[in-house]
Amino acid sequence: MESIVLIGFMGAGKTTISRELAATLNVRVVDMDDVLVERIGQPINDYFEEHGEDSFRKNETALLKEALNEEAVIATGGGVILQKENQKVLSNKLVVYLKADANVLVKRIREDKVNIRPLALKNADGDLKRLFYSREKLYEKLAKITVDTSEKLPQDIVNEIIQQVKGVSE
Ligand code: S3P
Repeated sequence: MESIVLIGFMGAGKTTISRELAATLNVRVVDMDDVLVERIGQPINDYFEEHGEDSFRKNETALLKEALNEEAVIATGGGVILQKENQKVLSNKLVVYLKADANVLVKRIREDKVNIRPLALKNADGDLKRLFYSREKLYEKLAKITVDTSEKLPQDIVNEIIQQVKGVSE
């Protein structure tokens, strides 16, 4: 099986869906944020404050290339699509865009008390939505498959991804 790369804004459901999808397909899951936290040895929010976003992005790019060497379902961080290098690397991969309505995304981000995102702390709701709109075209452009996660159950999203993957692989 070709690796499946989940992209989308914060709150799109990449982590949840990657776990269920990987379990259903019986393949490994790589949650890039989790691996990065392990590697940098501190929460992403602290890392942003101490070392800056650029440094985080370099680590993220290195990990993306590494993760793509193995067969897996890969949950990326929402900003992975920003780097030209990553766009190039992802252009010929099986990329699935988990899309959701901007209001749904902001609500999920604010309700998530476990995963505190630096860009969510820094930005008010309106700015977060603007950040999403500024990235939306990139997510769309890189995606081979798009699934709306706004009002669906994880298992239904997983089934939809599997159906669509069959379609593009034929
Ligand atoms: C980011 C998204 C986060 C994390 C970091 C930056 C972004 O991942 O990588 O806080 O720029 O959108 P999630 O999309 O998993 O929240």
